[in-house]
Amino acid sequence: MSTASHQSDSHYIHGASPAEQERLSLLNDLLNQACLKEMNMDAEQRILDVGSGLGQFTRLMARSTATTPTVLGIERSTEQLASARRYAEEAQEEQIVQFRQGDATNLPLQKEEWNSFDLVHARFVLEHVPNPAAVVSQMAAACRIGGRLVLADDDHGIFRLHPACPGFDELWNAYIRSYDRLGNDPFVGRRLVQLLHDAGMQNIRNTFIFFGDCAGNDTFETFADNLIGVIVGAKGIIIEHQLLSEDFFQTAIANLYQWKKRPDAALWYAMNWAEGIKKA
Ligand SMILES: C[S@@+](CC[C@H](N)C(=O)[O-])C[C@H]1O[C@@H](n2cnc3c(N)ncnc32)[C@H](O)[C@@H]1O
Repeated sequence: MSTASHQSDSHYIHGASPAEQERLSLLNDLLNQACLKEMNMDAEQRILDVGSGLGQFTRLMARSTATTPTVLGIERSTEQLASARRYAEEAQEEQIVQFRQGDATNLPLQKEEWNSFDLVHARFVLEHVPNPAAVVSQMAAACRIGGRLVLADDDHGIFRLHPACPGFDELWNAYIRSYDRLGNDPFVGRRLVQLLHDAGMQNIRNTFIFFGDCAGNDTFETFADNLIGVIVGAKGIIIEHQLLSEDFFQTAIANLYQWKKRPDAALWYAMNWAEGIKKA
């Protein structure tokens, strides 16, 4: 499992290896429908997805309105971009989606593209940048007057696992600390409304999107594996910054593998979600 990549001005804690991409892809399928429902897609013509990753949600947004909008995904990682383009080609959706390389803090838009998008969206991106306000400000500048800006991101402080798993609290705490060691905010989800407000958005709405599961459901193993995957993905930073010893880390991960077999195991988590409208 890969560790954080250090590119550009922001630090992406998850890697881009094939195994990591497969995990993120599976998880996307589980999450996307819940997110789409919240979006209330209607008559959008032009959509911008910032930090579009593998592009599944980018393409889903493109398919989801009768107006058949065009969607532009901006993504920094060349590996993610290559996969996103391949998936779009396999799905024969290149006509409705375009992927462009660029940084969320300095969006690579043409002059006429600024102030033009009906919907500007970013999910799980702000937690990976040291200056989320700079990203939201760029997103606001890309949005047309009357258009919507939607942010969805993590607040790692609200995660709960039950029954207790030995070593897990220390493991989770070290995972959280690995974000701030990179200069990122592990609790950025709670700031979404403030970020929208500070970028000049109005009529802001917020909610949670449930992102947990329990033993007995077919999807539980994927959720549990994702939890293990994200923590293992941060192992390099955790050990490098002496947040845990290698032995402690390995034992706690082994405990998690045992824990996920429990018939009474439950993961409780929700993603923070907020939208605002750009007024004149
Ligand atoms: C966890 S993925 C989320 C992908 C997608 N938004 C989704 O929800 O499925 C975060 C993505 O943001 C990208 N990213 C991180 N920092 C970025 C930046 N400064 N500019 C553009 N993309 C960035 C990463 O490369 C990664 O593909």
